[in-house]
Amino acid sequence: MLNDQKVCFSGVQPSGNLTIGNYLGALRNFSAYSEAYKCFYCVVDEHAITVRQEPAELRRRTFETLALYIACGLDPDKNTLYVQSHVPAHAELAWILNCFTMFGELSRMTQFKDKSARHADNINAGLFTYPVLMASDILLYQTDVVPVGVDQKQHVELCRDVAERFNQVFPGTFTVPQPMIAENGKKIMSLAEPAKKMSKSDENPNAVVYILDDRDTIIRKFRRAVTDSDTVVRFAEGKDGINNLMTIYACFTGKTMEEIEREFAGKGYGDFKAAVGEVTADALTPVRTRFGELLADKAYLEAQMKKGADEAAYVARRTLSKVQKKLGFVPRA
Ligand code: TYM
Repeated sequence: MLNDQKVCFSGVQPSGNLTIGNYLGALRNFSAYSEAYKCFYCVVDEHAITVRQEPAELRRRTFETLALYIACGLDPDKNTLYVQSHVPAHAELAWILNCFTMFGELSRMTQFKDKSARHADNINAGLFTYPVLMASDILLYQTDVVPVGVDQKQHVELCRDVAERFNQVFPGTFTVPQPMIAENGKKIMSLAEPAKKMSKSDENPNAVVYILDDRDTIIRKFRRAVTDSDTVVRFAEGKDGINNLMTIYACFTGKTMEEIEREFAGKGYGDFKAAVGEVTADALTPVRTRFGELLADKAYLEAQMKKGADEAAYVARRTLSKVQKKLGFVPRA
């Protein structure tokens, strides 16, 4: 805790175009914490290289992700927005925490199992120890809350276990964080295969709605969304496609499932899909406009990155020094 103010931390990988899953599960919830918490929002470029990245693209996406943070409503004067590799303490603490994390724990991570199946030619050690770097991100800031989609819950739980283990040996070192998972939008599914999570790395562009898609593209993608042979807009087991579209509609309108069922009673899937497209496009248009303005001013983005890195480095260094001292590392004279 910093001066008694509670701390919020989260991160997004600059590893692809961000989707409405990233938006609804994470990004749009971030600004809700800005008033009551000291917030750190990080563009986690070191996480992204666990999978091969094209260097020019990684550089471009790092700027874009920072711009999206701001375009989604995060004021850089109220939140610390920065790039992970600009703060070396992340990698330094990660090494230390590696020595407090068990091989068996990491082997149980479902994301490791999924990603190693998808990238069988590159099952590198970074992919395996990725949750330790994530724990380091979170623990460096003495974080109380971590807003994430449900796919990151297991990683935050591992972070808690590592923090508790460290605290048992060296009491009072880390704040043990809580995952904050929004009830609505915690897991947005693919439009093409609604039993699968919507993912920025999906190769089928029709499966994914990107935050920066234009209005016509958004409406077209929803029109093509896979549903079922029923015709009634109803939230029910076995209707993965419709359930997902209803969830997205609920997120953007604030309506309950019952209200949505009533609104579309007697109407077909076509009308409903068109409405989901409209509310999504309406919500994302201002984000896209603001994003365009921000990206046109690279000097501004660079200045924000630098300011954020300075703020983050100061706090991170304090925790890292405390940890190093407890471990018995001799301070550099
Ligand atoms: P990443 O970059 O995959 O995703 C960023 C955020 O978006 C959420 N998310 C989703 N939410 C709902 N539905 C979906 N289909 C969906 N897809 C993604 C994710 O849960 C996440 O909150 N390891 C993290 C990044 C990270 C991090 C951290 C997060 C690194 N260090 C420390 C929190 C704290 C990741 O890969 O997120």
